[in-house]
Amino acid sequence: MADLTDQVIIITGASSGIGEATAQLLAEEGARVVLAARREERLNELRDEIEADGGTALVVPTDVTDREAVGHLVDTAHDTYGQVDVLVNNAGIMPLSMMAKTHEEEWEQMVDVNIKGVLHGIGAVLPIMKEQGHGHVVNISSVAGRRVFPGGAVYCGTKFFVTALSEGMRNELSKQHNIRVTSIEPGAVATELTHTITDEDILESFEGMEMEPLASIDIAESILYAISAPNRVNVEEVLVMPREQAM
Ligand SMILES: NC(=O)c1ccc[n+]([C@@H]2O[C@H](COP(=O)([O-])OP(=O)(O)OC[C@H]3O[C@@H](n4cnc5c(N)ncnc54)[C@H](OP(=O)(O)O)[C@@H]3O)[C@@H](O)[C@H]2O)c1
Repeated sequence: MADLTDQVIIITGASSGIGEATAQLLAEEGARVVLAARREERLNELRDEIEADGGTALVVPTDVTDREAVGHLVDTAHDTYGQVDVLVNNAGIMPLSMMAKTHEEEWEQMVDVNIKGVLHGIGAVLPIMKEQGHGHVVNISSVAGRRVFPGGAVYCGTKFFVTALSEGMRNELSKQHNIRVTSIEPGAVATELTHTITDEDILESFEGMEMEPLASIDIAESILYAISAPNRVNVEEVLVMPREQAM
C-alpha cells in the first residue's frame, strides 16, 4: 500500500456522511485533509476532532455549485500545502421524486451539485495535477449510476454521468498525465442524504423498509483502498452494496 503521509486530499461534502468519515479515516492515515462543504460549523467541529487526534485539517467553506468558490478551495489547498494529491468529489444531493410530479427545481439542483459541482472540482485540480505530474480524482457515483429505480430518473441520470465521466477521464488522463481516476459506487448508506427528499410518496415507500444499510466508514475504506494502491494500479470502479440490498 502507498503511504498517505502528508498527501494533500481535498474532500467535498465533508460536513456529514461519507465525506466526514473519509476525512477522519484519511487523516488517521497521515493525510492532510482539506474539508469543503457549505456548513462551516460542522466542518470546524470535524477539523477540531481531527486535530485533537493529532491529524492535520484545513476548512474551506465552499458551495460546489459556484465555480469560483471551488477554484478558491483548490487554490487555498495548493497555496497552503504546495500540492494537491487527491480530490474526493463527494458532495451530492438526492431529492428523489417521480417524474410525473415535475419537481423541476430539484432536478436543476441535482444537475448543479451532482454534475456541475463535480466538473468544477475537476476543472480546478487538473492544471495543478498536470503540472506536478501526478494526481488522483475519486468521483463518488452510486449504484444509481448503473441501475435506474422508480423516483430516481434524474438522480440516476446525474450518477450515470459521473460514472461515464470517470471512464472518459481515465482514457485521457491516466496514461498520459499520471492522473488516476476512480468511481466509487455505494448502495444504500445510512447518512443525511435522504433529508433532501420532499416527495411524500417516496418518503412513504421508505417506511417499513427492512434492510441493514452500509455505514459511511464502509465507503471511506473503499476510498482508502483506491488511493493507497500502488501507482501502477488504477482502481477503476468500486461497487459496494449492503448484503441485503437487491437493487
Ligand atoms: N447515502 C447513500 O446511500 C449514497 C449511496 C450512493 C452514493 N451516495 C453519494 O455519496 C455522496 C455523499 O453523500 P452522503 O450519503 O454522505 O450524504 P450526506 O450526509 O447528505 O452528505 C452530502 C454532503 O454533500 C454536501 N453538499 C450538498 N450540497 C452541496 C453544495 N452545494 N456545496 C458543497 N457541498 C454540498 C453536504 O454538505 P453541506 O450541506 O454542508 O453543504 C454534505 O456534506 C453523494 O454524492 C451521494 O450521492 C450516497
